[in-house]
Amino acid sequence: MENWTIDKVRRTFLDFFKAKGHTEVASSPLLPAEDNTLLFANAGMNQFKKLFLGLEKRSYTRACSAQKCVRAGGKHNDLENVGFTTRHHTFFEMLGNFSFGDYFKEDAIKYAWELITEVFKLDKSRLYVTVFREDDEAEQLWLKNTDVDPKHIFRLDEHDNFWQMGDTGPCGPCSEIHYDLGEGFKAEKPFFDNGMPDFDCGRFVEIWNLVFMQFNRDESGRLTPLPKPNIDTGMGLERITSILNGKLSNYDIDIFQDLIHFTENLLGKSVPAELRSSLNVIADHARSTSFLIADTITPSNEGRGYVLRRIMRRAIRHGHKLGFNE
Ligand code: SER
Repeated sequence: MENWTIDKVRRTFLDFFKAKGHTEVASSPLLPAEDNTLLFANAGMNQFKKLFLGLEKRSYTRACSAQKCVRAGGKHNDLENVGFTTRHHTFFEMLGNFSFGDYFKEDAIKYAWELITEVFKLDKSRLYVTVFREDDEAEQLWLKNTDVDPKHIFRLDEHDNFWQMGDTGPCGPCSEIHYDLGEGFKAEKPFFDNGMPDFDCGRFVEIWNLVFMQFNRDESGRLTPLPKPNIDTGMGLERITSILNGKLSNYDIDIFQDLIHFTENLLGKSVPAELRSSLNVIADHARSTSFLIADTITPSNEGRGYVLRRIMRRAIRHGHKLGFNE
């Protein structure tokens, strides 16, 4: 099996989209600039919000990035999942390609399928696709432009297939690509319900979300069409790296294993199976803590600093469980 380090996966993604005319844009800081609707950067599209709204123009209409994200507090909050699943993080990197009034659904679907099946060479029989309940067009485009198994396309409702950044802002229906980890993945819940995969059981990992950005939601909840349709996609770098290396858990990839070994060495004794999730929590929270502080957010009693404080406290609590007392 090819050795996909996290750096190689990131570079491969960005180079693929650069070759398709996208400008590589650096990650924005975790502290959102001029946007009080957000606690932290939580998606690649945040820094492009004004382009989607038609309030700003740049020299390019296609972009790609690897964005630092923190999902703790606010609309997208994964804090309490960390430690209990193999795929959630408070801090992660989101790979994304973006179109600002340039290409739309058809090319977004074609590019995604080409990258995962021809470059990453994922096994097609393990790929599943979901589309928004009412989005006949997206389903037809998948059937026309790819060789995805038609029995692997499912329709889901707003909860899963309509993406929005926060309570207000750009939003739209989306189409998600999921990877089946296979029978080797053990879950508490059944894998299928009447032939439909349970996309929350953990065996089917959402690897890529293609958002068809078409609306802006205002404070009263009303949707108005954006000046032009756009594309915003997000692929979890840690998730795809884990899959490319044949792992069942994100915590088994290089970047987390280094942190887990570091913690074990500090502890000086081996950690029993039932406590190993605490090692994952510490590795995850150490990353979010470090990146938040590097981006000028420090622990405090309110707002962003308070969320950081909660992350640090949670890591420390898990440290106590493992036997650390300093
Ligand atoms: N904004 C979408 C998400 O975060 C796709 O990038 O899932």
